[in-house]
This record gives sequence, structure tokens and C-alpha cells, in this order.
Amino acid sequence: MPAIAYVNGKFSPIEDAVVSVEDRGFQLGDGVYEVLRTYRGRLHAVEEHMRRLFRSLDAIELKHPFTAAGLEKVIVEAVKRAGFADSLVYLQITRGATKRAKEFPADTEPTLVITVRKLELPSAALREQGVAITTADDIRWQRCDIKTVCLLPNVLASQRAKAAGCFEALFVEKDGTVNECASANIFIVTSGIVVTPPLSARILSGITREEVIALARKNGVPMEERRFTLAELLAADEVFLTGTTVEVLSVVKVNDRPIAAGKPGPVTQRLHELFREVAG
Ligand code: PDD
Repeated sequence: MPAIAYVNGKFSPIEDAVVSVEDRGFQLGDGVYEVLRTYRGRLHAVEEHMRRLFRSLDAIELKHPFTAAGLEKVIVEAVKRAGFADSLVYLQITRGATKRAKEFPADTEPTLVITVRKLELPSAALREQGVAITTADDIRWQRCDIKTVCLLPNVLASQRAKAAGCFEALFVEKDGTVNECASANIFIVTSGIVVTPPLSARILSGITREEVIALARKNGVPMEERRFTLAELLAADEVFLTGTTVEVLSVVKVNDRPIAAGKPGPVTQRLHELFREVAG
């Protein structure tokens, strides 16, 4: 089965899909995106992803003709054509292709790109052992709640994490406040309480984050949304990531320092099991 692309109304194998060199996504990073996945062929949390997409579009004032139902229909068709059990769906909307100028173009149609490929999940070994992460100064802009394709700080932080043999990069403010990772949200478990930074313009409102908070509350796991520092994270009993591509994934080392005993903890494992029961 081939990986599939859809560009402005046309399906093709991913290798054959093209956009204009004048696309504002390519030239200016003027666009937003979503990443979704399927479990055994079925889209997960598609309504939530569509809501966030439309919030991102509104936030950057991108005028468009799309509806959630219309986009969902195209995504379902693309997933069906690709035929993978576990698919990674990437959806991007930019302010279209036109002569380069920074202000909004007057009459340009947005560019819609959807790709569907086979999902690569963290290996069983990574899940059993947990992952190491590094920290990075949070040099991103002041609207990290918008899922924009302007991802250069995330690109650089992810590359530095990879070069250090780590799975993720954790963005930390100058004063030590922990925000989120380059592609995932962050949680700690301290004295039996699960803690994650509150929603703000410094983090993305992760769909998996919301699902895990709801699962914790529903199952009587104490849960707080509040700010915490890197010092508190390093002293925590457990640390874990949430995200579409990682689900709930244990972090056992931060900047080469082990978290507690340096093994995945019971609260993280329980939340991951609860998540899998609901998700698939
Ligand atoms: N990233 N924070 C950031 C900065 C992210 O890029 C992501 C997801 C998340 C987790 O959000 P969710 O639970 O909705 O997947 C948090 C996607 C997977 C990406 O950019 O590839």
C-alpha cells in the first residue's frame, strides 16, 4: 500500500504530490496543521482535532471555505485509500500561493494538503525502559497555543535532543518554568499527584493531554494543572509525555539525570493502560 497525499482536491501517491514554490507555507511559514492517527483504521479524536484546527485558522485570520465535516470526509477517504491499520494523518492549510509579500494576499485560495502514511510507534523496548530527554531554552514565540507550521525552534531543539541520544526536547523558560516538549506535552507525578502545566499561550492544548487529564479525574487519580519548575520535575517520582504519536510515554532520564529509580513508574503505566482501553 502506498502512502497517500491529497492536495487541493486531488489524491495521488505521496511522491507525486506537489505544491507551488510560491506557496506561503513554503515561503513564510504562513499556515497551520494537525496530526491525527487511526487505531485499526478508525480515526481517533477527530472532532477534537478539527476544533483545534479551526481555532488555529481563526487565530491567524486565515479565511477558508472548509468545514469540519468536509475535511473529515476527505481524511476518511485518504485513510481508506492508504489502507494502513495504524495511519499517521498530517493535515496542513496555508494561506495559498501568490507573489511573495508578507501581508495577506487579496484573492488567494488556501492550500490544503493531507498526507497519510504508516504510523511508526515507539518501540516496545522504549516503552518498557522509558526514554531520555534533554532540556532546551524556550525561544519560541508568544503563541505556542496555535499549531502553526513555523516550527524552527522545535526543529533545532529536536535535532539537539537527537544528537544527544535523546527522544525529546523539553522547553524550559529562563526562570525554570517547564512548558512542554517539541512534539508532546509533559506531566510529572509527585507525592501521588499527577501535575501538568495549565493551558496558556506557552503550550499547545494537546488532545492527548486533555484525554489523560479526563481519564485521571474519572479514575480517581489526583490531578492538578499548575506551573512547576525544572527543579520540581527533576525531583518528581515519575515524568511522562503525552501526544498523538507517543500516547503516554515514560521519561526516565532528563539531561542525563535519572528520575527517581530511573524506571517507568506505576502511575504512568496505569494511565497508559487506561488510555489504551479507551483509544484502541
Ligand atoms: N505534535 N505540544 C507540541 C508542541 C506538539 O507539537 C504536540 C503534537 C503536542 C501534543 O499534542 P497532541 O496530543 O494533540 O498530539 C504538544 C504533533 C504530533 C507533531 O507536531 O508532529
